[in-house]
Amino acid sequence: MRSNAILLPFLISALGVVRAEDYRLLYEIPHGESMATFNTTFEFVCAIWPPAKFSGLKFQGALVEPGDYSGKNATTEAKIFCTWTNGTTVTPYTTEVAAFLGAKPVSD
Ligand SMILES: *[C@@H]1O[C@H](CO)[C@@H](O)[C@H](O)[C@H]1NC(C)=O
Ligand SMILES: *[C@@H]1O[C@H](CO)[C@@H](O)[C@H](O)[C@H]1NC(C)=O
Ligand SMILES: *[C@@H]1O[C@H](CO)[C@@H](O)[C@H](O)[C@H]1NC(C)=O
Repeated sequence: MRSNAILLPFLISALGVVRAEDYRLLYEIPHGESMATFNTTFEFVCAIWPPAKFSGLKFQGALVEPGDYSGKNATTEAKIFCTWTNGTTVTPYTTEVAAFLGAKPVSD
């Protein structure tokens, strides 16, 4: 009982950190574009995204993971993220870069 009371806040904050680190969003890639092309373009544009650069941030990472959350639609949908950081705080630019490239958010 006593150890639970001590552990619980720790576990909750640990879960919070894990959840906060999943920046992936589900998108439908532009029609007629291959997954490989979208991947290359998204990662390239993310890494040079001017608004992030002008804010003095550093590129952190980009991901294009084909398929929806159950792995279906692997040629038309992907889980993606684009993140920059100031060294301590991560700022996602996923929606901005995706919109710029004509990808559409998939809402379930
Ligand atoms: C996207 O490109 C990166 C870098 O070239 C590569 O490591 C990754 O496997 C590619 N992913 C897909 C889904 O094509
Ligand atoms: C695949 O994507 C289409 C739209 O692009 C959607 O209508 C369909 O429900 C998706 N299929 C699955 C299995 O998620
Ligand atoms: C990064 O941004 C956060 C939130 O604005 C701020 O609290 C933190 O001090 C910044 N870190 C650096 C190294 O600038």
